[in-house]
Amino acid sequence: MNSQGIVLIADDNENNLRVLSTMLRTEGYEVRVAKNGEQVLKSVSLEKPEIILLDIHMPVMDGFETCKRLKDDINSRDIPIIFISALTETSSKVKALEMGGVDYITKPFQVEEVKVRVHTHLLLRRKTLELELTLNNIKQLQTKLIQSEKMASLGVLVAGIAHEINNPINFVYAGINSLIKNFMELEKGIKEVIEWVRQNKPEVADELENIRENYAINKRLEVIPQLAGDIKTGAIRTTEIVKGLRLFSRSENEPKTKADITESIETALLLLKNRYKNRIQIEKQYQQNLKPIRCYPGQLTQAFINLIHNAIDAIPDKGIIQIEVRETEGGISISIADDGIGMPAELLSRIYDPFFTTKAVGDGMGMGLAITHGIIERHMGNIQVSSEVNKGTLFEIFLPAN
Ligand SMILES: Nc1ncnc2c1ncn2[C@@H]1O[C@H](COP(=O)(O)OP(=O)(O)O)[C@@H](O)[C@H]1O
Ligand SMILES: [Mg+2]
Repeated sequence: MNSQGIVLIADDNENNLRVLSTMLRTEGYEVRVAKNGEQVLKSVSLEKPEIILLDIHMPVMDGFETCKRLKDDINSRDIPIIFISALTETSSKVKALEMGGVDYITKPFQVEEVKVRVHTHLLLRRKTLELELTLNNIKQLQTKLIQSEKMASLGVLVAGIAHEINNPINFVYAGINSLIKNFMELEKGIKEVIEWVRQNKPEVADELENIRENYAINKRLEVIPQLAGDIKTGAIRTTEIVKGLRLFSRSENEPKTKADITESIETALLLLKNRYKNRIQIEKQYQQNLKPIRCYPGQLTQAFINLIHNAIDAIPDKGIIQIEVRETEGGISISIADDGIGMPAELLSRIYDPFFTTKAVGDGMGMGLAITHGIIERHMGNIQVSSEVNKGTLFEIFLPAN
């Protein structure tokens, strides 16, 4: 910035305007002038000044009303206002300060005094802005830290659980398959026995019928394969969950290799094709000649599957998913945007939590984004989300080049 700052002076007295603006311009400020409150509001809406010197007695709209309007507007409420007025009673000063003025100078004013006060309040304003920015950064960092801490401690726990579940679930899975095979043989045998008795010992056929009814043999022959099928489905699902947990909790043995990110995205799209074809349009924008980066390509594919899967789930009928990949300073930026149902603000802070889901049982396990977050962290990258209900969601990922 070349000038010391933009100052807006409002006074209906030409002489005051001239004296003040000459003095402030000499000091290096960029000066705007207004002769009444309406002009102030107009000037502020065109370009926001950093500070306003506001006369109280003005035609059309006086200083108090102008101050009120400025403070009511979210875009202008933070501009410091210094009142300059011939009204010397304490009540006017109190009113002006209560309305949000930062200072009150009485006319006839001393040029030197105005100069120092403007300078001080501008400095204060800038320091406040700086502080607000720093505070914001700290808050963001804190959220990130809490998230990583949570992930780290959970990771250890989850790795243990996944390991412990893995063995027993393998028994169940292997056991149920052999159980089904054995049962099918048994069923054949039972049916053969019944048939043989019918043919060769018709005199005990009634007795046999009784036994069949007493033990509900027909019904059981029907129900057992169904139950076994359910158990098998459960075991498969548990295996998938364990696989997801392991991906989430520890880096796989896959080595870091140089790879083209767009290949991971293409693989993800291929695997998900059934879920979006004929329904959702995929718009891709890949920068030409992208440099390969050192990464875990398999894990990144998993991360993209999770993100794109969510985007597909978020679009109830027809829609568009936009995927953009481009080189940015020090790495690669990937954005995945959908025009689906979006998320309210209060949801955003929870989506990376393991097992957080808004989906019906069976539709979502709530691990997708937790896993994705872990994978991006393992790459020293970062992931950000912005979303609006009924408009859509945007995930932005940054991956460093090495
Ligand atoms: N693109 C998106 N649009 C709307 N909501 C989303 C999107 N991505 C994630 N979410 C929300 O975040 C939650 C967690 O996502 P995730 O961890 O992948 O688990 P899951 O998909 O199994 O529910 C989802 O249930 C959903 O509410
Ligand atoms: Mg998901």
